[in-house]
Amino acid sequence: MIEEAGRKLKAKIAKRGKEAEYLEKLAFVKGDATSLGELIRDGLAMEPLLNVTSLQTREFNNSLKVFCCLCNTLGNVWPEYRGDFVTQLAMAMGDEDTVAISVFGAERFRDEAPGMYLTLVPITGSFNPSAFSARCEFTTSRGYYSHWFDWTELVELLQAPGTRLVTPNNEEQCKINGAYFVVCGKQCVSQ
Ligand SMILES: C[S@@+](CC[C@H](N)C(=O)[O-])C[C@H]1O[C@@H](n2cnc3c(N)ncnc32)[C@H](O)[C@@H]1O
Repeated sequence: MIEEAGRKLKAKIAKRGKEAEYLEKLAFVKGDATSLGELIRDGLAMEPLLNVTSLQTREFNNSLKVFCCLCNTLGNVWPEYRGDFVTQLAMAMGDEDTVAISVFGAERFRDEAPGMYLTLVPITGSFNPSAFSARCEFTTSRGYYSHWFDWTELVELLQAPGTRLVTPNNEEQCKINGAYFVVCGKQCVSQ
């Protein structure tokens, strides 16, 4: 899967004639995001990342990074691992780096989730729409799990050690079509 993603993206870039500029900066790394801190720590590439990429280490380490966790990926993580997942993102960030997270909002779960996941049954496995719980989560026949978030629990989750919401920092600013998009910076030790 990861190799296929790499091939497709590289082919797209090559079509635009920008291959020389972009391809040397492009690397795909497969791993469990709950161990992200073993690959990148305080914005610096650790040895396992250096071993699998052709990125220029100094360029990577000196760059400002935006870590993205989009499209409700956080909702695919089982509740018992979610806090660790966010902590690992915080560990990976350098002081000036940013984390961007988007999740689906709980208030749309009942009306929208069954229809949305129906189109994904060939990938995720089947589910029983009446089993979509009041806790805004469900698991399919193949063990695909998804949870949609309310604002309070999202904010609580993002209070993992070393992170804080920077901007925007209130629900209405972060809400887009019933989903939440938040941007987090790393908390300074002195704050
Ligand atoms: C909802 S998809 C979103 C994919 C992508 N972020 C996007 O914007 O299209 C969630 C992805 O996260 C992956 N995933 C879930 N838990 C993970 C983990 N612990 N480590 C790495 N990837 C994980 C799943 O395999 C799936 O591909």
